[in-house]
Amino acid sequence: MLKIAAIVGSIRKESFNLRVVETLKERYQEQFELDIITLYDIPMYNPDDELTPPESVITLRKRIKEEDGVLIATPEYNSSIPGVLKNALDWLSRVEMVLVGKPVMIVGGSPGVLGTVRAQMQLRQILNARGIGAHVLPLNEVFIGSLHEKVQDGRLQDENTLKFLDEVIANFIQFVKDTNQR
Ligand SMILES: Cc1cc2nc3c(=O)[nH]c(=O)nc-3n(C[C@H](O)[C@H](O)[C@H](O)COP(=O)(O)O)c2cc1C
Repeated sequence: MLKIAAIVGSIRKESFNLRVVETLKERYQEQFELDIITLYDIPMYNPDDELTPPESVITLRKRIKEEDGVLIATPEYNSSIPGVLKNALDWLSRVEMVLVGKPVMIVGGSPGVLGTVRAQMQLRQILNARGIGAHVLPLNEVFIGSLHEKVQDGRLQDENTLKFLDEVIANFIQFVKDTNQR
């Protein structure tokens, strides 16, 4: 079975984006194993520490290295990605560059109407940076607006969004297989 890491860009306990990821884990459990990675314990990146990183960063690198692909769920903070997510990507861009060539897909949602459009545009640019070099699923943009209304009882419940996700996830699975066969 395929193994996908899901990096959650919010460390808020009641994060809607975390709820989306938990929904994906359940909904597609027959198709892949989703390893949910939260960033609570990742300290601020400092170049002085990159050769002797904390245990949490070693574990983060190892988990991503072992997975077939990566899903990133990002909230939008001030028209960009949250600092915790950028910080984790900075760690991952150095020394052991575990995202290089890795198939990645992006999802994100917010209570606003644009549903993380601006954050995701920036995230695609960041994922294309030299030390990151991820192989990002083209097109297939998942912007979930009004997300606070679509999450109920801790799960994404909006039928249209879920149907759209079925298509995107199918595309991503094919993309992961194609990328890893090359
Ligand atoms: C510091 C801060 C900045 C925010 N900026 C934006 C923004 O630029 N665009 C947006 O759609 N939502 C913005 N929001 C609202 C977030 O989308 C909302 O808090 C969302 O629930 C965060 O995702 P989470 O539930 O996964 O933690 C902001 C929230 C915070 C706390």
